[in-house]
Parts: sequence; C-alpha cells; structure tokens
Amino acid sequence: MNNDIINEVRQKVDIVDIVSEYIPLVQKGKNFFGVCPFHDDTNPSMSVSREKQIYRCFSCGASGNVYNFLMDYNHIDFKEALHILGEKAGIDIGGVSVSKTPNKYDRFYEIYDIANKYYQNNINTKAGTKAKKYLEKRRIDEELIKEFGIGLSLDSMDSLTKILTQKDYNLKELEAIGLVSNNHDLFINRITFPLYDPSGHIVGFSARIYDGSSQNKYLNTKETIIFKKGNCLYNYHIAREYARKIKYLIIVEGFMDVIRLSSIGYKNVVALMGTALTDDQISLIKKLSNNIYLSLDGDNPGRNAALSNGELLTKAGLNVKVITLPNVDGEHDPDEYIIKYGKDRFDGLLESAINYSDYKINSLKNGVNFSSDLELSNYINSVIVEASKIDDEIRREIILKKLANEVNISYNTLEKRLNEYLEFRKVTNKKEEKKTAPQPKTRLSKYDIAAYNLIYAMVNNSEIIKLFEDKKVQLMTKELRSLASEICYYYKKYGNINVADFYTYLNDKEELLTIFNHITSMDFDDDTSIQAINDYIGVLEEYRVRQEIKRLNELIKKETDPIEKSKIAEKIRLLRIGD
Ligand code: UTP
Ligand code: MN
Repeated sequence: MNNDIINEVRQKVDIVDIVSEYIPLVQKGKNFFGVCPFHDDTNPSMSVSREKQIYRCFSCGASGNVYNFLMDYNHIDFKEALHILGEKAGIDIGGVSVSKTPNKYDRFYEIYDIANKYYQNNINTKAGTKAKKYLEKRRIDEELIKEFGIGLSLDSMDSLTKILTQKDYNLKELEAIGLVSNNHDLFINRITFPLYDPSGHIVGFSARIYDGSSQNKYLNTKETIIFKKGNCLYNYHIAREYARKIKYLIIVEGFMDVIRLSSIGYKNVVALMGTALTDDQISLIKKLSNNIYLSLDGDNPGRNAALSNGELLTKAGLNVKVITLPNVDGEHDPDEYIIKYGKDRFDGLLESAINYSDYKINSLKNGVNFSSDLELSNYINSVIVEASKIDDEIRREIILKKLANEVNISYNTLEKRLNEYLEFRKVTNKKEEKKTAPQPKTRLSKYDIAAYNLIYAMVNNSEIIKLFEDKKVQLMTKELRSLASEICYYYKKYGNINVADFYTYLNDKEELLTIFNHITSMDFDDDTSIQAINDYIGVLEEYRVRQEIKRLNELIKKETDPIEKSKIAEKIRLLRIGD
C-alpha cells in the first residue's frame, strides 16, 4: 500500500474535526475530551490530541489515528476510511490500492456470498415462479428483490450442499456455519433474506415459507462463529449511513417492515427480528443516532415490546419516540399499514410520534379500574414515578397538572409526592455512580512500565530508537520485541516516525496493534528525559540478568559434571556482581 498518500491524507485532515463529527468534544488544555463511543462510557474518558493527531480512551484503552477512529466507529475497512478522508482532504486516492488484510473468517464470508448468489439466481428461474408470485402479492417488486438480495432455496434436500462441496468446501465447515444440517441443506423451499453483520458481510439467512405449508414461518441461521443473533439488526449496515445523515433511526419488528419503509424512502430503518434488544444491539444503535423512533406492531405484543424496548433505550440515554399503529386486525404492522394507507399517512404518524415517557404514562391507564381506591392510588403513584424519571421540570409539571385534573386530586399533594421520589432518585443515583466507577487497572510491574515507556518514547523521538539499538536492549516478551523491531524498521525505511502514521503501519498486524494501543493509552509523559530513558533501560537490563541467572540455576541443577557445575557457578557470580 502506498503509505505516502495515506499519510498525506491523514496530515491534510484534523482528527479533532473528524471526531467532532461523531461525538461532541470539549477542549481542556491542549487536548479535547468526549464520551468514548467504544465502551459503555458516561464520563468523557476519550481524549483527542491535535498535536499528535491521535485519540485514546483512558478507560477502555481504545486508541489510534483518524483512520482507526473511522474504521472502528463505522465498522468499515481501511479502504473505506481512506476514501472518506481522501474526499475531505481533496486528494484523489482512486489509484491507491490498499492490500486487504486477510480476515480469518474470509472463507466463511465467501461461502455465504456463493450461497446468496445461488439463491438470488434461483428466484429468477422457472422454479422461482411461485415465489415471485408470492412476493408480487406482497408488493415486493423486482427492484426491492434486488435491493434486499431476496432469493429462493429450492425444494431439494441438497442442491446448495452439492454446489458448495463441489467447490471444495467440506460438509463439516458448511454445517458449522449453519448452511447444512445432517448432511443436507438447511433451507428448503423458502424465500431467503440475507442477513449481514455490521461490516456488511453476509453471515446468515432468514427464510420464509411462501406456499402455505404449516412449518415455522421463518427459519433463521443458528448462532455460529460469524452470526450472533444478539449482535445483529436487520439492515444495520445500510441504515448506518442514512441514520447518521438524517439524525434519527427507526426501529421496527420485522424485515418486511424494513423493506416496505425502504420502498417509501426511509432507509434509516433496522429490524429487531423478533427478539428483545440486547446490550450489544443497543451499543450498535447508539453509534448511529441518539434519536430513536420505535415503530413496532400495533397488536398487544407489539405494544408491550415498545414498552420494554423503549425502557432499555431510554436507560441507555437515548431519546425515544413511539409511533403507534392502530390496533385492528389486518394492518397492525408498518408494512401492512403503509400498503393500506400509503406513505403520507405514515409520514403523519411519524410526525405525531410521542415521547417514550408519555407513551409509558398513557399505557399505565390500561386496565385500571378507576372506581377502586386501591387501583386508583397505585395508578397515581406509578404516573408520579415515571414523571420523576424525566429530567425536564416543565414536562414534569405538565404531567402532574394533567394527572391532577384526571383524578381530581390537588396539584400540591401530587407535587409533594413527586419531590419525595426525586429525592429518592438522587440518593440511589449516587449509589449507582459509585458502583459503576471505573475499576483500578491491573498493576503493572516495573519492567512493564520501563518497556512501555521506552517504546512510547521511541515512537516520539528517533534519538531513542538509536539509543535502543546501540544499547542492544532486550525486551521481555516476543510481542514487545517484534513491536520494537517494527519501530526500528519503520524508522529506517521512512527516515522519520510519528505516532499517528505508525498506527497506519500497524493496521494489518493485529497483535502488535493491540499492545501498541495498550501502551499509547497509558498517558505517558511526552518528553521523557534521556536520563529517565537510561533508567528504564537499566531496569530492563536488570530483568535480562535475572532471567539469565534463573536459567543458569536450572542448568546447574541438571549438570552432573563438577567442573561444568563450577563454570556455571562462576558465570552466575559474575552476573550477580554486574560484570
Ligand atoms: P413478524 O411476524 O412481524 O414478521 O415477526 P414480518 O416481518 O411481519 O413478516 P411477514 O409480514 O409475516 O412476512 C417479526 C420478526 O420476527 C422474526 C422475523 O425476523 C420477523 O421479521 N420471526 C418471526 C422469526 O424469526 N420466526 C418466526 O417464525 C416469526
Ligand atoms: Mn408482516
């Protein structure tokens, strides 16, 4: 890969500007701080340095240059990150070829691509006539079939298995990734919808019956090494870009809903695929937008799902609005609603979506027997509890006023109760904060500290690289030794070195990148004195001597020849006195 252009692009953009496009940053001294998007952060623990053009999180240890940030934040590969930045920098990177880092799952992605192409082709053959008719009936036209890669698995026990085994993929791996079961095709005579991971690889299928058979409506790929249900949201890899641009994300239940919404222009939509939100899915959602519209089914399970998922998303700090569909038979999901009433009516629903807290308060009324004193007072209490969770004083007052009118109790009585809850919430919140305070990092040995400081200094100051080589410093582990030798190599090859560019260089060396990350996130001093560096080198030398003495002591135990034994003992003595 052409490092010159890559580094030139990096130098033309400012990491502070780029990161600010994704997370708000506040300047404190030389550095900028923000809430880290790579872990469940509430306090701003990510710092971005304009001077060094790197970011690092002191809590989770994420760090890197502007490319690393874009890749990790957007789940994109280096090439995509380079294109994004190239455009911003006004540098044509069309001709730059970036060698793709091989991924250990590439073979599996390949298999899924082949399977998907095969299924997509089937639906356009004669065998696909009936499936096409079905889709037509459901108003899924050619364009949508293409857009969502919809296909067909044939009514055969092993058509896909045969194709793949002829291509030298073996049954064992096909079974492991969920395409084959008991030596035959898993998906038989179903309409197939490819499922993607956040980076856009096909990693599974969901497949629907279409000819009225009595089997399960959808059959999904089982959990595999590349497909984790709790980490998957249908259409995430597409919705990503759109949700960021229009600054909100719509969440629906089924993928038929995603497809329908896409057909009327909403591309910022993901589907839950029939499960409750997991923590992983919530983190994925948080990366796209803080503004969420829940547009779940209008039936009772859908309404309950809006309540439970709304609660989870609100707790995660997101602004949640709920779109309610009419609860009547026949058009209770967004797909059916839009088919029946059209785009404009759905636009209207979206516009009149209500805040999750209001939705929840409205729902508290359901089933309450207002002539029972006990039920009435429970209802009043639960509304006040909900109101106490709202940060906005004006909204709290509105809710209480409404409630006072509704149940005919004085505003002051209700307010008194609200204040009690607010007080209680303050106390428990403080306790929670203590519980979630960052755990102290594992203590480093003095040797680790010496090695990490030395490596950090080498990347910041080429004089230290020379010192490192002159003194033939020995590091403790294989990884540290390769990292140091990469630093020396980089310096010799390019004649200079800086932290931000070195990150790019380490991109396809995953193991080294991990320790380098670890080292940079330690917040070491930037201009460590030569004196201090020499001290660190001394500490590392001490480590080497101790290891050598240990080795010789083992040797002496095994040695039987007394003359050899005394030779080794002499060596140990010399090492001990530092000769
Ligand atoms: P729905 O029943 O709402 O599906 O289930 P849908 O998308 O509206 O599909 P159609 O309109 O009936 O064709 C919501 C989601 O739950 C999952 C699917 O991911 C579906 O999109 N599901 C549902 C299953 O995994 N298995 C099932 O048997 C049913
Ligand atoms: Mn449906």
